[in-house]
Amino acid sequence: MSAERDPLVLFMPSGKRGHFPVGTPVLEAARQLGVYVESVCGGRATCGRCQVTVQEGNFAKHKIVSSNDHISERGPKELRYAKVREIAPDRRLSCSATILGDLVVDVPQDTIVNAAVVRKKASGRVIERDTAVRLCYVEVDEPDMHKPLGDLDRLKACLVRDWGKQIGFDRLETDFRLIPDVQKILRKENWGVTAAIHRDDSSDAARIVALWPGLHNEAYGIACDIGSTTIAMHLVSLLSGRILASAGAPNPQIRFGEDLMSRVSYVMMNPGGDRNLTAAVRDALNELIAELCRDAVTESTVSTDDVLEIVLVGNPIMHHIVAGIDPTPLGQAPFTLATAEAMSVPASAFELAGRHAQVYLAPCIAGHVGADTAAVILSEGPHRSPTMQLLVDVGTNAEIVVGNAQRQFAASSPTGPAFEGAQLSCGQRATAGAIERVRIDRDTLEARFKVIGSDLWSDDPGFAADTEHLEISGICGSGIIEVIGEMYLAGIIDTDGVVQGHGAQRSPRIVEDGRTFSYVVHEAPGVRLAITQNDVRAIQLAKAALRAGIDLLFQHAGVDQDGADPVHDIRLAGAFGSHIDPVYALVLGLVPDCPVQYVRSVGNAAGAGAVRALLSVAARREMEAAVRNVVKVETATEPDFQALFVAAMAFPHATAPTTHLATVVALPARVSSATAADRGGRRRRRDQPSTTLSPSEPTIEEP
Ligand code: FES
Repeated sequence: MSAERDPLVLFMPSGKRGHFPVGTPVLEAARQLGVYVESVCGGRATCGRCQVTVQEGNFAKHKIVSSNDHISERGPKELRYAKVREIAPDRRLSCSATILGDLVVDVPQDTIVNAAVVRKKASGRVIERDTAVRLCYVEVDEPDMHKPLGDLDRLKACLVRDWGKQIGFDRLETDFRLIPDVQKILRKENWGVTAAIHRDDSSDAARIVALWPGLHNEAYGIACDIGSTTIAMHLVSLLSGRILASAGAPNPQIRFGEDLMSRVSYVMMNPGGDRNLTAAVRDALNELIAELCRDAVTESTVSTDDVLEIVLVGNPIMHHIVAGIDPTPLGQAPFTLATAEAMSVPASAFELAGRHAQVYLAPCIAGHVGADTAAVILSEGPHRSPTMQLLVDVGTNAEIVVGNAQRQFAASSPTGPAFEGAQLSCGQRATAGAIERVRIDRDTLEARFKVIGSDLWSDDPGFAADTEHLEISGICGSGIIEVIGEMYLAGIIDTDGVVQGHGAQRSPRIVEDGRTFSYVVHEAPGVRLAITQNDVRAIQLAKAALRAGIDLLFQHAGVDQDGADPVHDIRLAGAFGSHIDPVYALVLGLVPDCPVQYVRSVGNAAGAGAVRALLSVAARREMEAAVRNVVKVETATEPDFQALFVAAMAFPHATAPTTHLATVVALPARVSSATAADRGGRRRRRDQPSTTLSPSEPTIEEP
């Protein structure tokens, strides 16, 4: 350190740096630089949330020699905390430790964010935590006869004085339900109270949403992706950013209709049906919240009263139903949303658990592209990407986004539930015992497979014993993709998806099934798992809907995948997308031909986006701004969709090249059994593909 300048302090991992006078508390330096370091007690050295470590050494790149000698020794307050609560020898309370010289200060990962969720390896991007709810401890001035201010008035004045500048408010409102208890709470711990302050916009007003006597050091949030089939939820500590528990449950609305449109039909046919759907999903959310609070691995029990924020994402119909909005207008053109804007309301307005919680319902993009896609965009960041990105969230509907930092396009394509194994003769959800991997011998046409719950292939020694406890009763979505890909590669189906009956002479696995043929994957006493012609058709229709949506967006975005600047970054999201082998995604033509390493799975990106939005108000604003710029393409009314759909029915595709795919698998010669008449199909319904087509009729219906 030179004598002329103030010490230089670099915070990691954010990389923010600045010069500060000797004696500045490290927490104050972090605040001035906008580095998020948690603090509940307001620097009284009692909450322990502001811990940091000093990195020692010569950081030549930053021109900093950092040492523990450049930070003040532990003072009485910090020593008292260490005695009462324990603190690791290398950790310091940044509210008490002051700067003496140049420093590299590490804000430990467990007090920033969940590494797996928010610190994306791909971009190396760190999201600073910036939660909408903050816990603020204050010692309220005692009543004074000469200053006739009420208890609540003095509490507000003290909160503005101690926390207003730091959090950015100078006006406070109060949840009126708290007011009857204010006087009791203030007196319980001798005027020391912790207030939960909610601020989710750029105004200078904030709101007291909860109040506890003394120091209250627990605050939790819920991030939830409401899928049409499954609800996935995380319980997150708002103070550490860590995910403490995760759970999923089937969406109970399934009893009103397997897919979205049949649920909308239910509402149309049954007056008050929307209220039944709303009650079903809210009950399921409350059960999951209770389960997560029960199961969280923490030092103390998590009370639902300490859940202060709930972030919900979901497709437009789920978005409307959970908010208590009639989804009927979303069931027919022009697919009008009640509102596309994000909502921030008390959880009680949605009848959700957490009596002090606020709900943030993420914004929708358009009638068929919802808050789940908004969360996927936030998580994967096409709007931050210098190069074109293709995002595909595969579910009952496929949400597709193509874009880069300049422009983004989105569409929803009605794939139906076939990818999830539903409506297939041997389909099942991805649970223990489901076949998830399949290989077919090109000469003998014999199949071997793996099931969820065992690491062995079915032809490995010991497979029978290893799977004895499992019931092999179906094939899950990823298994279906593989078996159909393998059937194509082995020549069991042709490019038009027709099961080749003459194969029956080569293998007993190809069996006659009425007017068509099936391929038997697994047979055991009482069980026969076969891929029928209708199963192949269902997958063809689903994959053609998905691929036509992608091709349509490429047209709008001006992407020529066979040209000089193809998309290099293809990300498959969603529970199903996460399990698809990229090679088979290319064999089926789910995504356009490209080097296989361009395709990767990104897991539940909608859930990850919801966690980001939970932990950062800035991320919410980023998502809201991003979705305003997205151009929505409506597949149902696009004139080119039909032609793209018909071309995408073929394996891998009727006209697109397969240059890259041919370098990783031996593709069969193109054999087509379709006639020209077969290709002049009608347009299909928007809600779901028909699975009852005959092999030679790849037909689609008008919307
Ligand atoms: Fe609470 Fe430092 S801010 S211990």
